[in-house]
Amino acid sequence: MLKTLFAASEAHPLIKTGGLGDVAGALPIALQKSGTDIRVVLPAYRKVLEKAGRLELVSSQLDSIPPTVRILEGRLPNTNILLWLVDAPTLFDRSGEPYSDTSGEDWPDNALRYSTFSKVVSAIANDKAKLNWRPDVVHCNDWQTGLVPALLSLEKQRPATIFTIHNMAYQGTFDWQQFNQLDLPSSLWSVESMEFYNQVSFLKGGIMHSDVVNTVSPRYAKEICTAEFGCGLEGVLQQRQERLSGILNGVDYDVWDPRNDPLIARQYDYGMFRFKRQNKVALQKEMGLEVDPTIPMLGLVGRMVDQKGIDLIIDLLPKLSRQRVQFVCLGSGVKAYEEEISRIVARNSAKFACHIGYNEQLAHQIEASADIFLMPSRFEPCGLNQIYSLRYGTAPIVHNTGGLADTVTDATKANLQAGKATGFVFEQARLADFERTVTRALNLFEQPRMWKKLVKAGMAQDYGWDISANAYIELYHKALKYRG
Ligand code: ADP
Ligand code: GLC
Repeated sequence: MLKTLFAASEAHPLIKTGGLGDVAGALPIALQKSGTDIRVVLPAYRKVLEKAGRLELVSSQLDSIPPTVRILEGRLPNTNILLWLVDAPTLFDRSGEPYSDTSGEDWPDNALRYSTFSKVVSAIANDKAKLNWRPDVVHCNDWQTGLVPALLSLEKQRPATIFTIHNMAYQGTFDWQQFNQLDLPSSLWSVESMEFYNQVSFLKGGIMHSDVVNTVSPRYAKEICTAEFGCGLEGVLQQRQERLSGILNGVDYDVWDPRNDPLIARQYDYGMFRFKRQNKVALQKEMGLEVDPTIPMLGLVGRMVDQKGIDLIIDLLPKLSRQRVQFVCLGSGVKAYEEEISRIVARNSAKFACHIGYNEQLAHQIEASADIFLMPSRFEPCGLNQIYSLRYGTAPIVHNTGGLADTVTDATKANLQAGKATGFVFEQARLADFERTVTRALNLFEQPRMWKKLVKAGMAQDYGWDISANAYIELYHKALKYRG
């Protein structure tokens, strides 16, 4: 049985800031079902310690890592998957978010926090933490674990390494002064390794030193090899193109399916599609909107950052305010976006509603209540909300990029007639294109027969994890071959 250590900086339901949390909470379960001996390692953030249940101290012997680091053992909630928590109280046991403080500023010691985490993961991987278990493969995710393949590459014997890029825009870059304090091998500060324009990039470390690299959709795997999407690392990715692939994220239908979603007002599926309206009415009441199930409702859930095309939403809202539509939005991020959206919503409170912050239940309620889901991201490695929307019969409007392009089929006449259309895709991330597509969607919404056809095709899509988990297992074998 293949033994895999899965390292991530967040995992639902213990801790989540975005899609990485969803993936790290669900993929290990699917890998275990497919016959992998999988163990998950996470930082012991305060919120995780509060939610993790019974924990046992299993190691405090970590050579050359400060003595305050211990490893606690538990289980991923509602599974029998073994979970190891890297318990370094001075680094992780604090209030605030995983990567930022309560005011949204990055923690100033993130370099130390995630280099320490990565050192411990590397120690577990080579059984230096004395856990009596040695994985065949270490699966790392995003920059927070990028040092792991770099550190392991310096060892004589090591497991194979795979590095999954969930987002090129977050690189974990730090200057020489910070690097110098991390007690890392100086060889890592070189162009062939992690040096990147006179800084050190943890993301580059993962890309350069892992046996195989992948990202979370086939389209994004191609895009990041270009200057437009590569965030300066396109050259490095081109160099490693043979080892680079795209595996589409799956979704956890135990959590995201209106048929069995405990967080929504009324459960439904395609056969009982009429019940979806009860969710809309409940949300209209809750958010103080006009109660009328026939008004088309547009939904948005997501981090309010440039990536998500929030500027396009802001530009669209004044135009929407003159139409017979409602807009419901949930998110947080860049203060200027939060404030601007809140201002526009306040001016149109009969039609628009917005909750700034993080709210798991409301995210489910919006998926279940809206008729149309807006996702005009400028780039999107995979994107999960548009896939959830498909299952909730909430037609997504997406920009033709990354995983959005790989998961939504545009409602052209031909696609509609063939029963293939699942949503609406626009070409350029510009207001004119976006607006035209919203109008196209609203027009189709007025044709109930066609709309039902669209929604039916969307709800029938299956993005469960099984297929992707098998693709990961194949990738693990490829990594073992490359390692030699
Ligand atoms: P990203 O990882 O770039 O944020 P994804 O679409 O892959 O985007 O995943 C986002 C996940 O985070 C989804 O599960 C979404 O419902 C959730 N999410 C984002 N913002 C919020 C919020 N403010 N409250 C609750 N859930 C949120
Ligand atoms: C990232 C990406 C998102 C992806 C998620 C999980 O945060 O922005 O597109 O779905 O990771 O892979």
